[in-house]
Amino acid sequence: MAAKNKSKNKDKKRSKDRKKQRKSREAVVSVDASQPAASDRVRNEWIRRVEAEYRSAAITQHLTLWLIQMGASPDLISDGLRIVTDELTHAELSHAAYVAAGGTGAPQIDRDSLGLKRKAEQPLEFDVTRAATDVFCLGETVAVPLFKELRQECSVPEARAVLDRVLVDEVRHRDFGWTLLEWLLELPSAAQLKKLVEAELPRMFTRIRSLYSPPAAKKDVQMPTSERAWGLMPSARYGAILERCLERDYLPRFERLGIDAQAAWDRSQVAS
Ligand SMILES: [Fe+2]
Ligand SMILES: [Fe+2]
Repeated sequence: MAAKNKSKNKDKKRSKDRKKQRKSREAVVSVDASQPAASDRVRNEWIRRVEAEYRSAAITQHLTLWLIQMGASPDLISDGLRIVTDELTHAELSHAAYVAAGGTGAPQIDRDSLGLKRKAEQPLEFDVTRAATDVFCLGETVAVPLFKELRQECSVPEARAVLDRVLVDEVRHRDFGWTLLEWLLELPSAAQLKKLVEAELPRMFTRIRSLYSPPAAKKDVQMPTSERAWGLMPSARYGAILERCLERDYLPRFERLGIDAQAAWDRSQVAS
C-alpha cells in the first residue's frame, strides 16, 4: 500500500513538473513573440561581436603577460587580468544575444589573431606602448560613446543585458589604457616611448578610421527601429561618434601627456 501511494505521489509530481515545463516554455515563446524579429544583419553583427570580445580577452591577456614580464605595478597587472574576465563575459553575453536572435552558427576566429605580435629587435616597452595606445587609449576610449549610443534604443532583453554590462566595464577599460600609458611615459625610456607614440599615432588613427568610418559607411544613415531594438545602429553613426571622440577625448587626453593628437589626426587623414 505504501509503495502504491509512493508511486501515485510520483505520478502527481511528474504531471506537476510537466505542467511547470509547459508553462515555462510558453513564457519563453511569449517573450520571443513580443520581441521585434531579428534580421540577418542583427545575427551577423552579434556573431561578429562574439568574435571581437573573445579576441579582446586574448589580446588583454597577452598584454598583461607583458606587464608581468616588465615587472609593472601589481595594480596594473590585476586591472589587466580583471579586464580579461570582463571580455570573456562580454563574449558569452553576446553569444546569448546571438542565439536569442535565432543564430545557430559558431564564431569564426583566426587563432593567429588571438594575441599580440612582438618586434623582437625592440625592447618590450615599445610593444607594450603600441598596444596600450592603439587598443586601449584609442579603441576602448571610443568604445564608451559607441556603446552608449548602441544602448540608447536597445530594448530586446538579451541584447540590452550585453550593452548594460559592456558600457559599465568599458569606462574602466578606457581608464586602464590611459593609466598604463601615463605609467609608461614615466619610465626611464619615456622620451623614446613618447617619440614612438608620436610617430605611430597617425597609422593608428588611420586604422581606427578605416574601421569605424570607411567611405561606404557614410551612406548608411537609416536603420529600421527593429534593428535598433536589437542594439545596432547605422554605420554612419560610428564615424560621427569617432569624430566627436577626437574632440572630447583623444585631443585633451593626449595633450595632458604632451602629445599633439591633432597633428597625428591630420597626418592620418592624408595617409588614408
Ligand atoms: Fe568588451
Ligand atoms: Fe573592453
